[in-house]
Amino acid sequence: MEPVLKVENLTKVFTRKGQPDYTAVNHISFEMSPGECLGLIGESGSGKTTVVNMITRLLDSTEGRILLGGEDITRLSGKGLRKAYREMQMVFQTPTDSFDPRCTLGDGIGESLRNNGWSRKAAKDEVVRLLEVCGLSADFAGRYPHQVSGGQCQRAAIARALAIRPKLLICDEATSSLDVTIQQEIIDLLNELRWTKGSDLSILFICHDIALVQQFCEYVLVMYKGDIVEQGTPGEIIQDPRDPYTKRLIASIL
Ligand SMILES: Nc1ncnc2c1ncn2[C@@H]1O[C@H](COP(=O)(O)OP(=O)(O)O)[C@@H](O)[C@H]1O
Ligand SMILES: [Mg+2]
Repeated sequence: MEPVLKVENLTKVFTRKGQPDYTAVNHISFEMSPGECLGLIGESGSGKTTVVNMITRLLDSTEGRILLGGEDITRLSGKGLRKAYREMQMVFQTPTDSFDPRCTLGDGIGESLRNNGWSRKAAKDEVVRLLEVCGLSADFAGRYPHQVSGGQCQRAAIARALAIRPKLLICDEATSSLDVTIQQEIIDLLNELRWTKGSDLSILFICHDIALVQQFCEYVLVMYKGDIVEQGTPGEIIQDPRDPYTKRLIASIL
């Protein structure tokens, strides 16, 4: 089966005037199968968000290729990029970042539907359905981002990300700003979505907390200073870490 996402030799070198070049991501390669949940872990500054920013094309890569459903999106822009965005959606660390503070959650969730030709009425009904799938009642559609809790806003952000039925959901520290019990609720929701959507949804789950990754991902990549230093199932990585950095990372949480 065609991988949902394939990254080959992806590299980012940041250059700044008067400063030495900095390699934030160093020739990394990995792929994701349909329906797979892949964890990307590593301490702060290891290059995780830079990888995401290249995949979502917020940043140009210095070297390497990114294939989304077999299509090379490494240099896409304009219309081609907008089409690629329909296949891939993001959930960010700060739940309110997914929404315009002046618009209701319902408008935010329905925006992509309206942009894709849905009628106002059909989009409104779909927003209610998406809210319910994500564990929120219909009345949340009329609330503003500042009128809900962080966990509720993150649920709405997931509803928004799912609206146009992407094949790939990228969660960059999507639980990191939330309280521990709320983190668990969001993980449970993502798990539920995976079960109900079957092989339709792949999730790239970026997190610095291996305990959360363990509950949720089939396979894990460990990043350290721009390199993938280790990879395997969560069980392999936790029970038998090979790389010295992974050993320290595991020791710090056990
Ligand atoms: N726009 C940028 N210019 C220069 N350096 C950057 C830029 N963005 C990130 N970096 C550096 O790249 C490294 C990786 O950052 P990041 O990808 O955000 O790590 P993580 O998400 O794992 O915490 C860090 O050392 C960071 O300072
Ligand atoms: Mg980051």
